[in-house]
Amino acid sequence: MTNILLTGASRGIGAACVDALKSQNLVGTSSADGDLADPATPKKLWESALERLGGRIDVLVNNAGVFEAAPVDLSHDEWVAQWERTMRINLTASAELCHLAVLHFQKNGGGRIVNVASRAAYRGDSPAHWHYAASKAGMVGMTKSIARGFARENILAFAVCPGFVMTGMAEDYLASRGGDKLLADIPLGRVANPEEVASAVRYLALEAPASMTGAIIDINGASYVR
Ligand SMILES: NC(=O)c1ccc[n+]([C@@H]2O[C@H](COP(=O)([O-])OP(=O)(O)OC[C@H]3O[C@@H](n4cnc5c(N)ncnc54)[C@H](OP(=O)(O)O)[C@@H]3O)[C@@H](O)[C@H]2O)c1
Repeated sequence: MTNILLTGASRGIGAACVDALKSQNLVGTSSADGDLADPATPKKLWESALERLGGRIDVLVNNAGVFEAAPVDLSHDEWVAQWERTMRINLTASAELCHLAVLHFQKNGGGRIVNVASRAAYRGDSPAHWHYAASKAGMVGMTKSIARGFARENILAFAVCPGFVMTGMAEDYLASRGGDKLLADIPLGRVANPEEVASAVRYLALEAPASMTGAIIDINGASYVR
């Protein structure tokens, strides 16, 4: 049995990951366990998960995230506040959990990190979502650095980069972007479903060979091929 801490477990991709990983010892968190916008939350979440999992975590999955608009016509102060909120939840909180995980894995002979990033990391996003794209690009850079820095200690790091995934978040986005027109840009002809992302997360968390460390897996119906 593998001990797993998964953030953002209450809905969407996270809920599908809970299902895909249900045969393991999993602690799934959501905003009910602490708001990741609060700088005190990541350490508290880590410590409480560690306790619930009997003092050992083998896999960290950073999935919690927000996709909130910061239109350029906001006042500058409002725009900066939105930037900082997205960075804090999507990138800094994930980085803190990665840091705590690396320290823990160093003591325990290794472990795995799976970060849920986004196609936006590579392709960019809408004019109201620079912060989102930057937060996900940050996650990709962080994942690669951890993979390169700690592979010798059997600490493996991966990321997945979904395009559109049919969760609450994507439904709103699709509607705001004209639905079918956007689908026409996806060669597969449809958006991904959460189970497809969860199946990649499960593979990376439990099965991917060590030599794959540092891999960033695209899940986007060939809508952005790099
Ligand atoms: N859906 C897409 O099209 C898509 C595409 C690419 C990447 N992604 C990424 O995939 C991940 C999951 O996305 P999703 O679409 O499944 O999202 P979702 O349905 O909106 O669910 C978000 C999850 O994150 C948690 N969360 C959000 N803000 C939080 C906060 N401030 N503190 C603690 N927990 C918080 C939520 O908890 P509560 O239920 O308690 O709010 C929920 O469990 C995100 O990182 C997202 O950026 C999604």
